Order: sequence, then structure tokens, then C-alpha cells
Amino acid sequence: MNVLVTGGCGFIGSNLVRYLRRERPEWTVVNLDLLTYAGNLENLSDLEGDPRHVFVRGDISDRSLVEPLLSTHAIDAVLHLAAESHVDRSILGPEVFITTNVLGTQRLLEACRAQRVKRFVMVSTDEVYGSLGPTGAFTESSPLQPSSPYSASKTSSDLVALAYHHTFGMDVVVTRCSNNYGRYQFPEKLIPLMVVNALHDKPLPVYGDGANVRDWLHVEDHCQALLRALEQGRAGEVYNIGGGAERRNIDIVKAILGLVGKPESLIQYVKDRPGHDRRYAIDPSKIRAELGWTPAHTFEQALAETVRWYVDHPTWWTRVMSGEYLRYFETQYRGRLQGRA
Ligand code: NAD
Ligand code: TYD
Repeated sequence: MNVLVTGGCGFIGSNLVRYLRRERPEWTVVNLDLLTYAGNLENLSDLEGDPRHVFVRGDISDRSLVEPLLSTHAIDAVLHLAAESHVDRSILGPEVFITTNVLGTQRLLEACRAQRVKRFVMVSTDEVYGSLGPTGAFTESSPLQPSSPYSASKTSSDLVALAYHHTFGMDVVVTRCSNNYGRYQFPEKLIPLMVVNALHDKPLPVYGDGANVRDWLHVEDHCQALLRALEQGRAGEVYNIGGGAERRNIDIVKAILGLVGKPESLIQYVKDRPGHDRRYAIDPSKIRAELGWTPAHTFEQALAETVRWYVDHPTWWTRVMSGEYLRYFETQYRGRLQGRA
């Protein structure tokens, strides 16, 4: 089996590439990534020299690259993760979110249709459902009410993927996952940002009253769910993926401070994010019943391991955040920039 992972140098993508190499060692994993600020080959440095991991730098929107890539590697299935992924950046500059997430996904789908790719897994998000009140949870039939330019662009790409199933008969499975945490997450998202700031004794910016709730899932549990969706999901279906770990932001921030031994006086309440969704929660009954998936990690223990990983890897986040890694990449991986397709 040959699979294409798009966005395989990002947070979830790099964990997924590693997970697939471990769980399906006979598969070849082709990794197409543009290496934006959020994508780093260093996230996969342990796979350096692995003949069954083929990295290609490029844009999912570039059909002149993608179609030959699909045919050269006889790609059977695509796991589509490449995206602009950060809500705050989508508020500052929405355009690239539409270009990459909506148009890029449509072009990728078109290339896959032309090359008769057998299965396309569209990695979407629970943010397509918008915000919940204090009770209830999103099911796959909850109304789609995205709030931010990020979530609106993901909703659009999610629906375009489903349209390719309904209209063209493409074998598409959509997954909608809650907030992930784990190693290699770019330190602009809540958990790694708070760890890095705390280690520098910098203020920890908590938006609004800090009582917004997210449902947290360890990235490896997400990877396992994606593999199940790829292998066992039904075409044209949507699967919600959640961690069953609803936590208020402020409680996570305090837990991180406790883990790194820093005072709560570092917490600084700041102006709220515009249109900030109050609460997300997932009803995972469908994926549990149909694909037999449940998360294996417990939040408190896996959070502690995750925080420890960031504490132990200052070189990684220093490079990633300073942009130094881009320069490092140019010298270390110049040959690989051409791709190995
Ligand atoms: P990320 O920002 O860490 O990684 C995105 C990757 O996509 C980067 O490596 C980037 O270089 C690449 N990329 C961006 N534009 C590209 C383009 N035009 N062509 C090729 N590659 C491109 O994101 P992430 O957190 O790993 O999220 C991955 C996917 O999972 C996204 O689709 C996101 O919407 C979805 N998702 C994320 C979460 C979460 O909590 N992080 C939850 C649910 C769903
Ligand atoms: P984030 O990690 O950006 O994920 P998302 O917006 O996709 O859920 O944010 C998670 C939660 O943490 C969200 O409610 C916003 C909040 N948050 C802060 O309070 N401060 C911060 O500096 C960041 C980045 C997020």
C-alpha cells in the first residue's frame, strides 16, 4: 500500500507519518508538504534515510506536481492534513486560509479523481460545528456553524470533499477531530505556547475569562483513529473523533505551571479572541461503534509527558520559533528540496 500524507511535516502530520511507519512498516508513505512556518522536516529527523518515507516539498494546489506524484508512486490512498491551522492567524489574515484550505483541497481532490486514487481521508475539525453551551456534545449531524475564518475554510473543504463523493463517486471519508496535544506542536497553540512562555518566565496570555472549554485528544490517539478511518471507514461518512477530556483553558494553564514549577502570577488575562467559541465537546459514539476506536491516553498523564517533552527539547522549539530552522534547513536539506519523486 502506498499512501500520500499531505502536511506530513506539521504537528499531526509528522506524528502520523511516524505512526504509519511503525504500525504499517510495509507501506510507503509519501509526504507532500510546502514547509510553511508550521512545517519542519526536523519533526521527522528520526526517519532520515528511511527508504519508505519519501518527502516532497510542494503545494497541494499545484496539479502539475501532484498528479505525477500520485502516478509515479502509485498512490492508493490520501490522508489530507495540509492546511493553515491556527485560528488567531486566520483572524489576522484570512486569505491564505481560503487559498490553501478551500482551493488547495479542491485541486488536490481533482488530482486524486483524475488519478483514480482509491480512498481520500479528509482530516477536518470539530470547529465546523461552532460553539456549544454548557451542555451537550457534537454529533455528526449537528448543524455546521463555523465561527472563525479558519473553521469556515475547514467547513468548506470538508463539504467540498463530501461533494466529490456524492457527485463524482469518489471514495471519501471525513474525520472531525477535537483539539490535539502532544510533541512537535508549533508553539503558537495553547499548550506548547504556555510551556515555552512559562520556561522563559514570560506572561501566559489567557483569553477572556479562561473558562472556554476544549475537548483534548492526544495526537497518537488521533493517528490511530485516522488509520481506522482509512482502513475501515465507510465511503461518504463523517466520523467525529474526541478525547472525552473536556477542560477549561485556565485549568490547563494552571496544570502546566504546576508541572514546570512556575508561579500562577505569570498568568495574564488578556482581551478575548474575537468570535471565540465557548465550548467544544464530541459525541464519539459513531466511531466507537463502527470502527471500535477509543482513546488510549488519559489526559493528566499524557499532558505531563507532553510538557516534559517540551522541557527536554528546547533546541527544537527555539529553532522553530526563531526561524533559524529555515536557515538550518536550507543548508542541511538543500538536496531534499528538489523532492525525491
Ligand atoms: P500544522 O499547522 O501543524 O501543519 C500543517 C502542515 O501543512 C504544515 O506542515 C504546513 O507546512 C503544511 N502546508 C500548509 N499549506 C500547505 C500547502 N499549500 N501545500 C502543502 N502543505 C502545506 O497543523 P496541524 O495542527 O498538524 O493540523 C493538521 C490538520 O489537522 C489540519 O488540516 C487541521 O485543520 C486538522 N486538525 C487539527 C487539529 C489540532 O488540534 N491541531 C484538530 C482537528 C483537526
Ligand atoms: P488554540 O490552541 O489556538 O486552539 P483552537 O483555537 O483551535 O481551539 O486555542 C485553544 C484554546 O486556548 C482556545 O480557547 C483559545 C485559548 N488560548 C488562550 O487563551 N491563549 C492563547 O495564547 C492561545 C494561543 C489560545
